[in-house]
Amino acid sequence: MSQVLRDARRFEEEKGALISPESRPAFHLSARVGWMNDPNGFSYYNGLYHLFYQYHPYDSHWGPMHWGHAVSRDLLHWTYRPAALAPDSPCDRDGCFSGSAMTLEDGRHLLMYTGIVRSGAAWDAPAVQTQNLAFGDGEEYEKYAGNPVLTEADLPEGGSRYDFRDPKVWQMPDGSYRALVANDFEQDSASVLSGMTGEPIEGLDEGGRMLLYRSDDLIHWEFVRVFAENHGRLGLMWECPDFFELDGQYVLLGSAQDMLSQGLEYHNGNGTFCLFGDYDPEEERFTEKYNQAIDYGIDFYAPQTVLTPDGRRVMIGWMQNWDTCNLRTPSTPWFGQMSLPRELFIRDGRLCQRPVREFDELRHGRSEVTGGFVKDGEIELPGINGRPLDLTVTVRMDDPETAFSKFAVRFAKNDRFYTSVSYRPQEETLKIDRKFSGSRRAIIHQRRAKVLPRDGQLKLRIILDRFSVEVFVNDGEKVMTATLYTDPAADRVSFFASGSAKFDVEKYDI
Ligand code: FRU
Repeated sequence: MSQVLRDARRFEEEKGALISPESRPAFHLSARVGWMNDPNGFSYYNGLYHLFYQYHPYDSHWGPMHWGHAVSRDLLHWTYRPAALAPDSPCDRDGCFSGSAMTLEDGRHLLMYTGIVRSGAAWDAPAVQTQNLAFGDGEEYEKYAGNPVLTEADLPEGGSRYDFRDPKVWQMPDGSYRALVANDFEQDSASVLSGMTGEPIEGLDEGGRMLLYRSDDLIHWEFVRVFAENHGRLGLMWECPDFFELDGQYVLLGSAQDMLSQGLEYHNGNGTFCLFGDYDPEEERFTEKYNQAIDYGIDFYAPQTVLTPDGRRVMIGWMQNWDTCNLRTPSTPWFGQMSLPRELFIRDGRLCQRPVREFDELRHGRSEVTGGFVKDGEIELPGINGRPLDLTVTVRMDDPETAFSKFAVRFAKNDRFYTSVSYRPQEETLKIDRKFSGSRRAIIHQRRAKVLPRDGQLKLRIILDRFSVEVFVNDGEKVMTATLYTDPAADRVSFFASGSAKFDVEKYDI
């Protein structure tokens, strides 16, 4: 084992133990110590779920990337394992970036990841990116001596070696392997490097693309084709691909940097997208049909999925927004959380999500209120409070007693602060709003999504942890995720209406 990895392991063991469980999320995975971003290598191996993550143990800010590691039986109770990868080899000297994992036929666990090597001394000097392998047993991983296995020499025309990352690897029924790797065009990198971040250059800037490679032995790879292309529609560089069949449809998940707003579907900044398409297995061609966002809140990025032994497609994303990472103070011993694991399904042609069913096991202390009523004001209901909390509020939009211009649920509330979800039926919008959560930073505090009642009702399942909220709308047709750092003792819930609203509430403690 290298000294770099040994140091990281010693550091995380020592400093991680000083972080009290109460100062972490109750049921979301957070960095063992220091900084966490993207989920990596999300896989099921030897009877356990493995989740790795982009990790800088020494600081609560992004830095030379390691792979943190945690395992779980139920996707909710995670046990840290020692850091799996450190930037300690010539091909990943400056960082082990995102990637994926799979079980090999000989029983080994394979990690495929991006190694970066900076071309100058500055921390942000452009970094050449290559794809690398490590083989392991679920605890110890050895980097392949012949790394890298995919380099700039494998790029199609015009591809940038500075934006070539995040391999998603899988095995085909015939035993051969495929990898999707995110890439951008050379001139895009040039424009970013010349300080023009976010400003497309007319005629040049096409944005990212996902490249498909094939291999028989994981070592020798050949370029198959450009699998999906941005054409400047969804941000600039694309990152973190995932591709799978779901309910008879083919979907490609990705994350886009530097997006421009598109109605209420996509928002400025980095965001997630799902491409639906036809897939021709002979030609290995993906023909995109339409797309949608994956999460409509503020804090969700770089998701990965795993196929569970019972056939469910479960997704976890980084519950953070690159532009709002400075919400917490530098002295925070950990920074970065993963989202709830969410089961994916397709309904009415849309990618839908629900918390994994294992989550129900965490719930207790059920309370229910039927026929709650609020008119031109705000009420609290006996027994309806808590943090963490799983709260479902159902508003019957076709009830004669329901006629409001705005209805809101306020939670994580004390005398001074709260976070809310509010619905305006005339505008058909649902808004998540943390501006009164105690934040003192000029960051994004609100996001709106287009929402219509379903079967005559608006149903909001609000899952609140100590530092986050995930709102599942109408049984998963949209999800809005946000972090919040209000004092965890702020645990009241209230219901607000302009006009009158009749609603039912089901609440569980967690
Ligand atoms: C996405 C990302 C990936 C990269 C990693 C680096 O959030 O930019 O593309 O591999 O983070 O930490």
